Amino acid sequence: MPQSLATGRPPRYTWKTRKARFLASPAAAAERIERAHALDPVVRRLSDTVVRALPTGPRTDALHGVPFGQPAHPAMVRLPLGCWTSAVLLDLFRSTGRASRMLIAAGIAGTAPAAATGLADWSALHTDQQRVGLAHAMCQAGAATLFVGSLAAQAGGRAGCGRVLSASGLAVATIGSYLGGHLAHRLGAGASHAEQISHLSRLGWHDVCGLGELPERHPVRRQLGYVSLLVYRQGSTVNVLSDRCSHLGGPLHQGRIMLERGTVCVTCPWHGSTFATMDGAVVHGPATARQPSFETRVTRGGRVEVRPRP
Ligand code: FES
Repeated sequence: MPQSLATGRPPRYTWKTRKARFLASPAAAAERIERAHALDPVVRRLSDTVVRALPTGPRTDALHGVPFGQPAHPAMVRLPLGCWTSAVLLDLFRSTGRASRMLIAAGIAGTAPAAATGLADWSALHTDQQRVGLAHAMCQAGAATLFVGSLAAQAGGRAGCGRVLSASGLAVATIGSYLGGHLAHRLGAGASHAEQISHLSRLGWHDVCGLGELPERHPVRRQLGYVSLLVYRQGSTVNVLSDRCSHLGGPLHQGRIMLERGTVCVTCPWHGSTFATMDGAVVHGPATARQPSFETRVTRGGRVEVRPRP
């Protein structure tokens, strides 16, 4: 805790100094939201509702962005944010009210897919991430409400009031976007958490263990230097994936082995992402990034060797 140089006692923060610190350090404000346990009852109830409404399947996978190989939400938020920013700029330069109203309406329409994809991703995050995600969603919902109010005011002939509401909506949406950035870039939501292994390919084949040490049809963890591996043996065929789930780093070797569309898959124990053991392809989200996988061979001496799959 910082000490006052004059008295040696911790400094007393007034409302003004707190406000200055808050404005000077938005990252500190976002970190406080991470630890805001008061949000937990809402987080739990909403998360349970979303999980129940979105069972594993193609519709939920599409909301996560599995077919695109990356989360769909960042692409979906471009429409409302782009339209609303353009509308406020048009207001600023006193352009025609009609163009501005069209942009606001398009932005409001774009909030539905943005919210659906965001909620799907949010429901499969850690609690500290969910607290920030909830604050982010509340800001964006508040912004959408202000833009709806702006449209109503402009339709009622109160153009000045409409412009003020639009500018306020954009300010709130910008705060929400900052929290979204904190969630993605500081807390790692949406990024791949799997080990990067491509640099190991230059080193060729790596010895992992003896074939006879591996149990039949039961996933186990083995180490390759600092990289944890999921190793799965079926007869003389051995499949090897990086063990840290690309979604949020869950231990895949503790997952369930299942058959999906005729392919042997492993399901992550944390949020249910499902990967083909053969090549790490994503079968079900919330993960969108392929799980790094290894080519394998068994030597004459019965040793299993691996190298990163190109
Ligand atoms: S860590 Fe979330 S599905 Fe694996």
